[in-house]
Amino acid sequence: MIVLGIESSCDETAASIVEFNQAPAVRSSVVATQHDLHAEYGGVVPEIASRAHAERMLPVVRAAVSEAGLSMSDLDAIAVGHRPGLVGSLLVGVSAAKALSWSLGVPLVGVDHVQAHLYASALDQDPIDYPSLGLVISGGHSSIYAMQSATRTERIGATIDDAVGEAFDKVAAMLGLGHPGGPQVERLAADGNDHAFDFPISRLSPSSLDFSFSGLKTAVLYEIKGRPPARKLAGKPPRPPQVVPPMTPSRSADIAASFQRAAVAAILLKLTRSIDHVQPVKSLVVGGGVAANQTIRQALQEFADTHGIQLRIAPMKFCVDNAAMIAGLGACRLQSGDDFEPSEFGLSLTALPTSAS
Ligand code: KG4
Ligand code: ZN
Repeated sequence: MIVLGIESSCDETAASIVEFNQAPAVRSSVVATQHDLHAEYGGVVPEIASRAHAERMLPVVRAAVSEAGLSMSDLDAIAVGHRPGLVGSLLVGVSAAKALSWSLGVPLVGVDHVQAHLYASALDQDPIDYPSLGLVISGGHSSIYAMQSATRTERIGATIDDAVGEAFDKVAAMLGLGHPGGPQVERLAADGNDHAFDFPISRLSPSSLDFSFSGLKTAVLYEIKGRPPARKLAGKPPRPPQVVPPMTPSRSADIAASFQRAAVAAILLKLTRSIDHVQPVKSLVVGGGVAANQTIRQALQEFADTHGIQLRIAPMKFCVDNAAMIAGLGACRLQSGDDFEPSEFGLSLTALPTSAS
């Protein structure tokens, strides 16, 4: 089965060809990033993103088909990331996928972008051993899944505020680094002392599997800019303004390293709490842009070794958004024989802002 995957949920326009026999083999993966268009705003501007998707979609699809050495008539099916994401952006991919499916007379299946991140570690690799504990750490999501297979997943934890990648991006902005900030924070952290600051590791309630990164982000902000003045209370002397040391390259590296240590510790804490929710667990499956971070990859390898399970982490090129993960999971869904909701299949497929549970 030869599947064209299309991805346009945020700021990457991507298309890929995956050939699925026993396992998914990536024949091409083309990603047109929009980072340059959003850099001056310090984040993704939805209207700019959807316009750029509309301009780039067809050239990117054509490039993916020709890099695979194929023509459009060779396609057996089309898969598109139809949720979650910026709706204006998703609609560009969904409309292109519908038009191609209709004109070529091939099936069209919708794929959840977050579940597709979990599938990235199966691309061009041996099949994953399930049941698995799944972790998606990206710019939009920090979620934990109990996985019975690639297509049967249950979300058991999610962030209640910021995603971990968003926290990396905001800390990067506070430190005057560019966007996206994750890779730059990682580079800076390599020169810092990760115990220089004792930033908070969010626990939430003792059994919570959810994440929270807003407290960590605020603690970093206070370390950089100082605490805001306390509210004036009647009868109390005003609190003196906090004096923050000047920002030097070494202080900035220490902040980046200490932030990264706290973020990693929060991820490991919630994985430790989650592992008993999947039994017998055979593997830890990890995807999403933040999974490109070497300190996190190493910590996850140690976690997997400690629990005697296999680590299946997406290869670097498939950590950030791409369409190979969409095509691969789409092929899997089509072969699984599962029933689809009307909103996930064919011309009634809909773009949705939220993730499947
Ligand atoms: O998966 P992705 O491309 O998009 C979403 O689905 O959100 O993830 C992008 C996120 C950004 O927040 C980016 O800063 C972060 O992944 N990221 C990293 C690294 N590379 C990308 N965060 C930490 N360390 C990295 N090396
Ligand atoms: Zn993503």
